[in-house]
Amino acid sequence: MAYQLKINGQQLQADVDADTPLLWVLRDTLDMKGTKFGCGMSLCGACTVHLNGNPIRSCVTPVAAVGDGAVTTVEGIGDDELGQRIQRTWKSLDVPQCGYCQAGQMMSALALLRQHPKPTDEQIDIGMGMNLCRCSTYLRIRQAIHQVAGELAPAKESEDAAHS
Ligand code: FES
Ligand code: FES
Repeated sequence: MAYQLKINGQQLQADVDADTPLLWVLRDTLDMKGTKFGCGMSLCGACTVHLNGNPIRSCVTPVAAVGDGAVTTVEGIGDDELGQRIQRTWKSLDVPQCGYCQAGQMMSALALLRQHPKPTDEQIDIGMGMNLCRCSTYLRIRQAIHQVAGELAPAKESEDAAHS
């Protein structure tokens, strides 16, 4: 069946079975490889995307359940200012190690920061607790989230201020 999907502001079509997980529609049908397969069982968070602004596990979300909801993937994270800030900070702090989990980490961080613009460590632990990282970048992820939230001065802005 042909599904009309709204992804990162674009209307895209996927001719797949109703029970095809959204993850495979993104990766295999639409060739959007940013979202990763980890466990396939809603346990690791590698496949996290947003549906109407809420983080979901695309590995266990059938395409038929998406309906006319708005999907945002890591390819669309830079479409708003907060997403751009996350991208910049992840890069400036060298958050990724192998990088495999980081698309999911950034999508969860975006949802967390929208809900809690200045999250506490506990809120970060809760918001990010279902995103696993085999490289154990958890401390840098936490630092990055605090930096995006403005609790730490972003390195680039500090430099800019020093030179102004
Ligand atoms: S691949 Fe979806 S939660 Fe692990
Ligand atoms: S950076 Fe390697 S799994 Fe997270």
